[in-house]
Amino acid sequence: MQAKARAHSNIALIKYWGKRDVRLNIPAVGSISMTLSALWTETEVIFDERLSKDELILDNRRGNVKESKRISAFLDILRQKSGVPLKAKVISINNFPTAAGLASSASGFAALTLAAAKALKLNLSERELSILARRGSGSAARSLFGGFVEMFAGTEPDGSDSFAQPIAAQDHWDVRLLIGITSFRPKKVGSTEGMTRSKKTSPYYQAWIQSQPEDLKEMRQAILQKDFQKVGELTEHSCLKMHALALSSKPGILYWNAITVDAMHAIRELRHSGIQAYFTVDAGPQIKVLCLAEDEVRVRDMLRSINGIERTIVNKLGPAAQILEFDE
Ligand code: DP6
Repeated sequence: MQAKARAHSNIALIKYWGKRDVRLNIPAVGSISMTLSALWTETEVIFDERLSKDELILDNRRGNVKESKRISAFLDILRQKSGVPLKAKVISINNFPTAAGLASSASGFAALTLAAAKALKLNLSERELSILARRGSGSAARSLFGGFVEMFAGTEPDGSDSFAQPIAAQDHWDVRLLIGITSFRPKKVGSTEGMTRSKKTSPYYQAWIQSQPEDLKEMRQAILQKDFQKVGELTEHSCLKMHALALSSKPGILYWNAITVDAMHAIRELRHSGIQAYFTVDAGPQIKVLCLAEDEVRVRDMLRSINGIERTIVNKLGPAAQILEFDE
């Protein structure tokens, strides 16, 4: 009973921040993302009666206690669903640095969901798979799909209407998402912890929840109409609004470093010179720039010219997650 799957990472253009149910990991707001072509995780899952506990190998090293616990808790959900009690060996490889704010939990849990469900021969719909992946990590629910993807917060207490689905396919639009790595150090406040703190302490939390549906609606339309300026403006707005929430938490969470801020200014300056480029930043210091294919080289050169940007990664829209190997 084993299977291997690949899932691509994604970046939210309209951000998810806050949970309405921590145990079931149900987001408090919907979100919209683009799946990334250049970043992915490949995960192999082997259920084996000879194992007395789950084993995790992550990027060729043994998973630490925290990582292993999170994976085992997730596998428990699948064991319960399938009625198969076996422990599993999970071997996972990212083609990018883990925990550097590049959403490794998104591609990681999407690949794990797909591989484990296949290995256990669970015959699940895309919606069921997305709901499962969400239990591992909210953003993972989106990484099962290619192109532009929307995640619903839903209203059901059991989370049965909180899943992701595609808005537009991978070939819908030739946009680019460039990532500038400003630091390889792992982030200090993980997104789960940050979200809990913001919900408890930020005076802006209610305003965040209330204003999200309008952003989602406008972004959905702008993507379908290929209105790049609108997509870009909404992307920056949602990023800054999410960080306003993090910053206004107690104690305040500051994910940016000096290079992140330098890059934000440089991107706005580039825009003044007529290049349509817009930034977004997640729960870490890396800078991400959305632009059109024709501006990729200009934007890449600009990023490279910023002191402290250690590496740039260019993405197009990426594909859906897929099974690579399956062995009964
Ligand atoms: C800032 O999906 O990592 O990247 O559900 O707690 O695992 P958990 O959170 P996670 O949070 C992602 C936060 C974000 C915005 C986004 O991807 O929507």
